Amino acid sequence: MVKDYFKNVERAVKSIRKKVKAFPQTGIILGSGWGDFTAKIKGCIIPYADIHGIPHSCIKGQEGILKIGNDCAIFAGRFHYYQGYTLAEVVLPVFILKELGIKQLIITNAAGGIHPSFNVGDLVLINDHINLMGNNPLRGPYEEHQGVRFPDMTDAYSKRLIKLAKKSESSLKEGVYAALSGPNYETPAEIRMLAILGADMVGMSTVPEVIAASFLSLEVLGISCITNMAAGISNRKLNHDDVIATGKKAGHMLSSFLLSFLKATGSAL
Ligand code: HPA
Repeated sequence: MVKDYFKNVERAVKSIRKKVKAFPQTGIILGSGWGDFTAKIKGCIIPYADIHGIPHSCIKGQEGILKIGNDCAIFAGRFHYYQGYTLAEVVLPVFILKELGIKQLIITNAAGGIHPSFNVGDLVLINDHINLMGNNPLRGPYEEHQGVRFPDMTDAYSKRLIKLAKKSESSLKEGVYAALSGPNYETPAEIRMLAILGADMVGMSTVPEVIAASFLSLEVLGISCITNMAAGISNRKLNHDDVIATGKKAGHMLSSFLLSFLKATGSAL
C-alpha cells in the first residue's frame, strides 16, 4: 500500500475525530439494507460525504453513513469492487476503523446459498473463505511498520468470536464463503464448481475487508445472510430487488443477534 493511502486514512480519521471522541472496541461493516441495527445504536452520525477521502456509496439499499457510539462504530454501506472501486478503496473502512482504535471487526453480507442445508433467510457464520476475486487489497508496495508482508490467514475468522456468537444465538449455521468480483450472478455451472471447491455460500464482498483485517491483526466475525439460493440450486431466477427484499426481512434477526452478541462480548449498549 502506498504512503498516500495511509495519509488518506489519517485525514479521514482526523475529520471523524473532529466530530467524535468515543473509542469503541468493535467495528461493524454492514451489507445491503441493514439500517435497522444502525438505528438502534446510540451515537453520532457522519455521512460519508463528510469524511475526507471516502467514496460515496451509491448502491440501492445502502445508506452511506458512519455511526459511532461508545461501544461500536458502524460503516453502513460498503464499497464494492464491482462498482469500479479499487480494492484499496474497498478496504478503506477497515483501515479507518483500525485507526479509530477498534479491536474486533464484524462484517455482514448478503450471499447466495450453495450448501443444501441452507435456507433463504438463514444467518451463517463465515468460518473460512475462498478468494476468487482475482485481486488482493494488499498487492503493491509495502512498508514494514504497516503490518506483515505475508499475513497468515489460518485464523482469519476468529474461532473465539464464532463460539461467542453461537452462545448468543444457537440457530446460527457455519460455512465457507466464496467471493467473486461480480456484478453478474454466477452461472449454475460456476455454482457447481464452487460446491466442488468447498464453498457453502457465494457473494461479491467481505473477502478483501477480511484480508485487510488480518493484515491489521483485527479479530473478525463474518456473517452471511442467505438472501437467495445460488443459481441452479433452486429454480428461481436471481435479481437484486429480491436479494434486497429478503435481506430487509432478515434485518431484524441480524439486528437482534448483533445486539446480543455485542452484550456477550462486553460491549454493553
Ligand atoms: N451470488 C453472488 N452474490 C450474491 C448472491 C449470489 O447468489 N446473493 C447475494 N449476493
